[in-house]
Amino acid sequence: MTACAPEPVTHAADLAAELGALLAPASLLRRNEPLARRTTLRVGGPAEIYVEPADESELAVVLRFCRERDVPIFMLGRGSNLLIRDGGIRGVVIHLGAVAFSRVEVDGELLRCGAGAKLKDIALTAKRHGIGGLEFLEGIPGNLGGALRMNAGAMNAWTFEAVASLRFMDYNGVAHERAASDVDTAYRSCPLLKSAVALGALLKGRQSPREHIEAKLAECQQKRWTSQPKEPSAGCVFKNTKAVPAGKLVDELGLKGTRVGGAVVSDVHGNFIINDGTATARDVLALIEIVRTTALAERGIELETEIEIVGED
Ligand code: EPU
Repeated sequence: MTACAPEPVTHAADLAAELGALLAPASLLRRNEPLARRTTLRVGGPAEIYVEPADESELAVVLRFCRERDVPIFMLGRGSNLLIRDGGIRGVVIHLGAVAFSRVEVDGELLRCGAGAKLKDIALTAKRHGIGGLEFLEGIPGNLGGALRMNAGAMNAWTFEAVASLRFMDYNGVAHERAASDVDTAYRSCPLLKSAVALGALLKGRQSPREHIEAKLAECQQKRWTSQPKEPSAGCVFKNTKAVPAGKLVDELGLKGTRVGGAVVSDVHGNFIINDGTATARDVLALIEIVRTTALAERGIELETEIEIVGED
């Protein structure tokens, strides 16, 4: 062993080889995996090391390895609320894409769902079983893990309102289950999941007539189709403020249609930045800065980003 730090690239290659040797063949590990296509905004650089563990025990192996080697980890969900910078993400990017993480099992009015389950699938499974109260999930284009991590919401409802208990794994690879009443949450945030991995949740609904559920689902879809853009985006860019919803503010400031490179403030909804197909993360970040600076200068309002911004320039 020499005292010199190895070159980052070699180091990453060595780490990937070591981690790969610890994992079962059913887990997937890749070097320099492009991530733009794994996000809804479709910008950003690659993952230095990308892993899809086959199940919870494989995930525990990855987490323990990263902790022991001091390798940063990033949990990638459906990438629907995410802006990855153009230099990509260093360390290990973990995606719970294996079937073991995406189960949705119904028990009375409860649904036990894995973190990899799509919110839309959860909402539709609930409908099939006559369980109401989860319709709002249909309109959120992500999976459960991401929705738990940011307490995602739509139609004036929040993810944790529907959670009975949360399953998560700490960075030592130990799984826990905790009643939702013992988990702190806030608007667009669940601090516990900043340093632990969501494995899934027990969601609670209520028996409802099928036609009520269908009407509510249709209302959610209608709202989304008519008020949100269809082009690639990361959803709402900014958190709403107490004074005014961020989209309304951007609209009032006359910023709709403002463009930097391939990034444009949507004409449909002011809180969305769309990618015209040629945007880079740098374009999107510059546009975000224009909106924030204008909101502060003209209305004295500090806009805070809701999307997660990660990676290297
Ligand atoms: N508005 C405008 N101009 C615009 C956009 C909105 O005047 O360009 C007005 C609307 O007319 C409405 C108000 O602003 O009076 C609020 O707009 P909207 O009803 O579209 O809801 P929102 O607060 O902008 C929130 C969530 C969305 C979620 C919708 C639908 C936040 C930051 N956003 O949007 O979530 O889909 O409600 O329930 O809380 C996301 O998290 O990525 C997201 C898109």
